[in-house]
Amino acid sequence: MARIDTDIAHAAALLKSGELVAIPTETVYGLAANALDATAVSKIFAVKNRPSFNPLIVHCRSVEQAALYAHLTDPRIFELAAEFWPGPLTLLVKRKDTIPDIVTAGQPFVGIRIPNHPLALDLLNAIDFPLAAPSANPFGYISPTAPEHVLEQLGDKIPYILNGGRSEVGVESSILSFAEETPALLRFGGVTTEEIEQLIGKIHIMGDHAASAPLSPGQLASHYAPRKKLILGKADELREKYRNQNYTLITFSKKYPDVPPEKMFVLSEKGDLHEAAHNIFRILREADKTDSALILAEPVPAEGLGNAINDRLKRASA
Ligand code: TXA
Ligand code: MG
Repeated sequence: MARIDTDIAHAAALLKSGELVAIPTETVYGLAANALDATAVSKIFAVKNRPSFNPLIVHCRSVEQAALYAHLTDPRIFELAAEFWPGPLTLLVKRKDTIPDIVTAGQPFVGIRIPNHPLALDLLNAIDFPLAAPSANPFGYISPTAPEHVLEQLGDKIPYILNGGRSEVGVESSILSFAEETPALLRFGGVTTEEIEQLIGKIHIMGDHAASAPLSPGQLASHYAPRKKLILGKADELREKYRNQNYTLITFSKKYPDVPPEKMFVLSEKGDLHEAAHNIFRILREADKTDSALILAEPVPAEGLGNAINDRLKRASA
């Protein structure tokens, strides 16, 4: 069983020897391996049961380190890095040959970000290689935002979970691709579209659920999903329609006192999107454990972080 602790030197030693370590980030927990060690990286795919065509994000400690593995030529990359790194933004940029094929799934672009979590940064400073890390969940399931979430599902498959408490942001990084002249947002995440556009101007939004050929498996229709059936809609309408069924309810801010408290989840009682994002994956996990077969959930306001939350809810319902 994995040990949960805060020993950076131990985590660093395991990673150096080609083992996997679950690491805290401000978005979600990652399942990390030495990004330069193809054998170590291959263990990530096995442990997560993840298809090998699905590339991994490379976590770096600095822009200088990132430049060893990617061609950082576009000036907008530096503007974004200066504003949002360390932070929940992944940039897809042209790779260098220094990064193994398995990390990018053979694609010409590599996803790079600097995570904003003190333990993750301490760890990256204790090693001389970057970390390839997807979210530390079995492929397709809800992302982990606490060490216990990782333990629950991957505890018997990895030696160590670096304990950084609960992930502050609570949804994954936004993914912005520089494959075309106009950057394209492939996944809504912790940095909002508004924030990105304010800095570098209009971008393409590809986060559309209906996208037929997913460039990024986070775009797959069904992802981030609980085991139970989740139905998305207006709370009052859903409650009426399913009034004869045993359901668990997730709302943005309103509590319905007639729903048993263990089946009533509110994302943010004060209607705050940051708090809702912080809670969404934990609540989906807890909702997946109640005695009802059905989860009813309502979308949050479609602005700022709300887009990332609604995206996860949509995929959870697919
Ligand atoms: O916040 C996050 O981004 C977390 C933490 C651990 O950093 N990581 C994360 O990784 O969410 P993952 O693998 O669960 O989701 C990353 C998404 C995947 O859908 C992957 O396909 C896409 O990013 N991606 C990564 N590298 C890519 C590349 N080179 N080209 C296209 N898509 C890429
Ligand atoms: Mg993931």
